[in-house]
Amino acid sequence: MERTLIIAKPDAIQRGLIGEIITRLERKGLKLIGIKMSSLDQTMLRDHYAEHVDKSFYKGLEEFMKSSPVVLMAWEGYECVESVRTLVGATNPRQASPGSIRGDLAIGTGRNLIHASDSKKSGEAEVANFFGPDELFAYDKSEYVHIYEESERA
Ligand code: RTP
Ligand code: MG
Repeated sequence: MERTLIIAKPDAIQRGLIGEIITRLERKGLKLIGIKMSSLDQTMLRDHYAEHVDKSFYKGLEEFMKSSPVVLMAWEGYECVESVRTLVGATNPRQASPGSIRGDLAIGTGRNLIHASDSKKSGEAEVANFFGPDELFAYDKSEYVHIYEESERA
């Protein structure tokens, strides 16, 4: 099964939206396999946002991501990277679909509440980057039989 990293950003903490974000991912049927609170430092952020470091918005992004703790989550599910990106919505919340997290709950691009991995490869890499093996949990989810066909559960 695929894995994806979610970061509930400082605006999600400040606005009391952690529960709402977790609820939406849970209700989709995804499996939570790791969760912790953390303060991200410059080194971690430059590594995580390596593709953006040279862009004009990076300095503001880094300052914002350091402004309060974040909640890191690892989720697992069949083709979950794509379905989580759809649940999260477009980067610019003003263009995000109604029903998505950003579409329903955010307005500013730099205050879009949540990070989600953008490919299967980055999902694996980002989960491994932020969680040690002892912080990730393998367990049977009893409702899987009602969420997936057998071939999708393999
Ligand atoms: P994320 O990485 O946080 O899941 O978001 P994303 O893939 O939808 O967007 P990405 O292009 O990777 O940008 C990373 C984060 O940088 C901030 N950003 N600000 N002011 C701007 O033009 C701008 N563009 C991007 C956003 O917080 C975005 O989530
Ligand atoms: Mg991104």
